[in-house]
Amino acid sequence: MSKILINNNIKFYSEEILSTAVNLLSNKDLVAFPTETVYGLGADATSDIAVSKVYKLKNRPFINPLISHVSNKDMAYKFCKETYLSNILSEAFWPGPLTIIMEQKNNNNISKLAAANLDSIAVRVPKSKILQEIITKLNKPIAAPSANKSGMVSPTSAEHVFEEFGEKIKLIIDNGPTEKGIESTVVDARGNYPVILRPGPITLEMIQEATNSQAKLNTSSELIESPGQLLKHYSTQKKLILNSTNCSNDCAYLGFKNLMPDNKFGGVSLNLSKNGNLNEAASNLFSMLRTLDKSNAKNIMVAPIPNKGIGVAINDRLKRAAL
Ligand code: TXA
Ligand code: MG
Repeated sequence: MSKILINNNIKFYSEEILSTAVNLLSNKDLVAFPTETVYGLGADATSDIAVSKVYKLKNRPFINPLISHVSNKDMAYKFCKETYLSNILSEAFWPGPLTIIMEQKNNNNISKLAAANLDSIAVRVPKSKILQEIITKLNKPIAAPSANKSGMVSPTSAEHVFEEFGEKIKLIIDNGPTEKGIESTVVDARGNYPVILRPGPITLEMIQEATNSQAKLNTSSELIESPGQLLKHYSTQKKLILNSTNCSNDCAYLGFKNLMPDNKFGGVSLNLSKNGNLNEAASNLFSMLRTLDKSNAKNIMVAPIPNKGIGVAINDRLKRAAL
């Protein structure tokens, strides 16, 4: 009973809730919703007032730009400049978990705050039907970061969003756990070849194949324009100890495939994927980290994760969380 009362801003997806969401966004308010990657905290991307609420609620530095979500390529090209690569990448991966960095067109109506005053802008066409419908009804791009406090673990369920913000958000649309469980790949499409600034579900190999180019992964500090990439991120309260092939009794263990503690282990343990499936591991990563973070264990020890395919993104998140 009390749970229902406490969580009364969490609503299951329905036509009526969709209209409520669009009304809130039209009034420069914020709404949390599922995407295929993680839950997002959305605002009208053309409104400084709405966008400033996102930064404030998340306690996010104003220098860390947001992704503008649109319903299709044409909507994106109203405010950013297409390139040879952006055409190929959007054709291959939109709608889907790929964010493309492009140059902005002059005098567009996107809030300067949303793009942190940069000349570039991050754009994504989400696959999520709910977000697609919201964008179409609002008929404006939606600026949406992951719906967590700046630097913390991204939410993959409505309850996670509630854990982060409680009733500070008027509406959290619940559609169960997200499919991918890890944030979109961010790729810069302005140069001669694609540069991945944040690895994600669309892998380096997929981008190389689609563009027939030597796409590069670059998450190092010098070349990254986006300061968000530099911060300690995705942090748990407990210390993470990576690449652990065994586990001490006072720690919790996040295993993978056969790497799990034996029967004598007295602590809490979870397996990212018993079959060693990296997509499954990605979809479990953040929710399992949250669960283990709530345990009584001293630290969280994490099994080594193969650094291939989406495993690159899993390791990127784990490394930042462990900083
Ligand atoms: O899957 C996702 O991308 C989720 C869902 C809600 O769409 N969103 C998300 O947003 O993860 P956020 O704000 O947590 O991460 C956006 C990333 C940040 O690392 C930010 O620094 C980068 O995109 N970014 C945004 N604009 C950029 C730009 N102009 N140049 C380089 N990086 C940019
Ligand atoms: Mg985030």
